Formats: sequence, structure tokens, C-alpha cells
Amino acid sequence: MPTWTVYGSPGKRCNACGCWEQSEVHALPGEGPEDADLALFGEALGANEEAQGVPFVGRAGEMLDGCLVEAGLLRSSCFIANVVRCRPVAIVDGVRRNRKPTMREINACRGYSTDDLARIRPRVVVALGDVAYTSLIGKDLGGILEHRGKVRWSDEFQAWVVPTIHPAFALRRYAERTWLVEDLKLAKRILDDGGVRPVEPTQVEIIGSVEHARAMREAIQIAGHVHFDTETVSNHPRYSLPFIYSFAIRERHAYVVARYLHLWTMHWSKT
Ligand code: URA
Repeated sequence: MPTWTVYGSPGKRCNACGCWEQSEVHALPGEGPEDADLALFGEALGANEEAQGVPFVGRAGEMLDGCLVEAGLLRSSCFIANVVRCRPVAIVDGVRRNRKPTMREINACRGYSTDDLARIRPRVVVALGDVAYTSLIGKDLGGILEHRGKVRWSDEFQAWVVPTIHPAFALRRYAERTWLVEDLKLAKRILDDGGVRPVEPTQVEIIGSVEHARAMREAIQIAGHVHFDTETVSNHPRYSLPFIYSFAIRERHAYVVARYLHLWTMHWSKT
């Protein structure tokens, strides 16, 4: 076992966990302005990051850059790092391949991220993928799809944490790229607003009589526009049964018309 410095020397040799044995780069520092308001954390280095010594420079990096631009953000104004700062490698048939970092590696590396965040003090931290989220939150909360887009405050970092999908996920499932863009837009909105605005609850007006329905129709006619939605039983093109209609003519207010009550009694036959 070597005897070099362990944690605390970014970019230097680090043997805080077993990752160093296969990785050609150790403890790769993040990059970006030291006063960045927004910090983004990925999982770990891949082959390109290991070769170039810069985080997010491969295809996942290109995906991230494109999504940042679409969200109105610039990479050059963000601090970008990985929560695991070596390249976790598995040798398969003599070939070095990326592998998911272990919990031991994630924990061993966490101090690099907490030091960065204590120094830079960004207002918003984006966790790209479940490994980044696990490391930043300090516990494994399960799949990122359950959490993406749900902002949480971190007392430890004194910052809002926005979990989202990893850019490599968006490469594999291109339709889901919009999630990454939406979540980055959310991060930008928090920066622009200076925090998370409390969401006012939507007022739901349940239409309970024919007179009430007439009043709703009149309000819609006066507004001159309406948004509507229906809830159906099944998606069958022929047999799906609409059982709720909702209409909205302004934000945070909805008219709800139930066709049926419980036990499939026609609601309107009772009024
Ligand atoms: N994936 C990551 O999580 N980080 C990188 O830097 C590159 C790919």
C-alpha cells in the first residue's frame, strides 16, 4: 500500500479509497469561477475526463453544455466538478471500462465537494444523477427519477439543491433530455428570484349544480379562452370513459366537473 497523502490535495495523488489503483487521474479538481452562484456536480470521471484532466468534456459534457445554453446558462459562469474525482474502472477482458462508484468511494471523496462548496458558497447546487445526489445529500435516497425537479434546501451548504438526471441518461434516452433542460431552467429561476418562491395552492371549484355550470360557462365566454383536461378510465381509443373534466381560465384556479360519483352513479342525474 502506498503512503501518499490521502484527502486534502486536489489534483494530487489520493489513496482515500481503492479507486486510485486503476485511475490515471487522482482527485481531479472542479473548474469554474471561485465566486460561481451555480455549482454542478456529476458522478465521476470517464475516459475523456481522465485523458484531458477536465470534468465533463466527453459526449455527456457536450450534452450538458447544450442543455445549459438552452436553459439560459453559460458553462463558463458555473463551477463544475464530480463527486468522485478519480475514474472508477473495471477491467473487462483486459479493457478498462467505466463503472459505477461504490458507496465507499463516494464517501471517501465527499470532502472534496464539501470543501469546494464551503469555499465557493454557490446559491444553487445541481446534482447530475443519483450518485451526485447521494453524495451531496449524504444519504442514498434511491433513483433520481423520484426526486428530479424537487428542490431542497441544504443547511450544510446554505444553498438550494436541484436534483436532475445525468447528461449520459439524456444521451441514452433522448426524449428525456427535456427533463435536464427543465431542471436547469429551474436552477436559473431560483438564482434569478433569489430563492424558491412559495407556490400558492390552486383553488379548485367543484361544479355541483346546473346553475353553477351555467356560471362557469359564462365566465369562460367572458374570458374568451379556456384550458381543459379530462381524466379517463383507460386509454382505449374506443372504450375509454371520461369521468372528470377540468377547465381553467386563469392561473391557480380550476373548475372541476365530475361526471360520476363513487359506485359509478351519474353525478349529473342527481342534480
Ligand atoms: N460523467 C460524469 O459524471 N462526469 C464527467 O465528468 C463525465 C461524465
